[in-house]
Amino acid sequence: MEKIAIYPGSFDPVTNGHIDIIKRGLKIFDRIIVTILINPSKSLLFSLEERIHLLTESLSDIDNVEIASYHGLLVDYARQRGAHAILRGMRAVSDFEYEFQMALMNRKLDREIQTVFLMTGLRWIFTSSSIIKEAAKFGGDIESMVPPVVKVKLEEKLDVRIKHNGNGSSTDLI
Ligand code: PNS
Repeated sequence: MEKIAIYPGSFDPVTNGHIDIIKRGLKIFDRIIVTILINPSKSLLFSLEERIHLLTESLSDIDNVEIASYHGLLVDYARQRGAHAILRGMRAVSDFEYEFQMALMNRKLDREIQTVFLMTGLRWIFTSSSIIKEAAKFGGDIESMVPPVVKVKLEEKLDVRIKHNGNGSSTDLI
């Protein structure tokens, strides 16, 4: 039987850390369904269509990956797709409480579906979509942290640059 995992998230936008987890996950699972779901506590920069596009472009050279979106409970979607595992990346201890709570809630909602955590590669331990967006917003170099297509779209979307005033002592947003 094919081993399928759902890799859920907001993916606003997809980062190299996400891609690292997908590649690691494919060493365990036959197929991974990367699924964009709603996280009610997050405000988003990219539309659903944009996030699907960025995932599609960024994962185009990886086999056995499907991109999907679902409006509703993650465990319902996992059940619909015949997946018995939810894949999540764990970076640092700071992720633990949130992930633990979510995994236990998902288990309570459906005891048949297991959450599997994989450790992110060390070089991605400090990255998250949120912190990358913040750095990009203020002109930080995020090239090594996201796929090239995401870098371009982030710059287009944010369209905010730091204008140095000459002596480097203060900055203005333009
Ligand atoms: O990338 P994120 O924002 O940390 O991902 C969180 C996400 C989208 C996986 C989570 O909020 C989610 O599963 N949302 C769908 C609703 C749901 O099933 N919530 C979990 C049980 S309360």
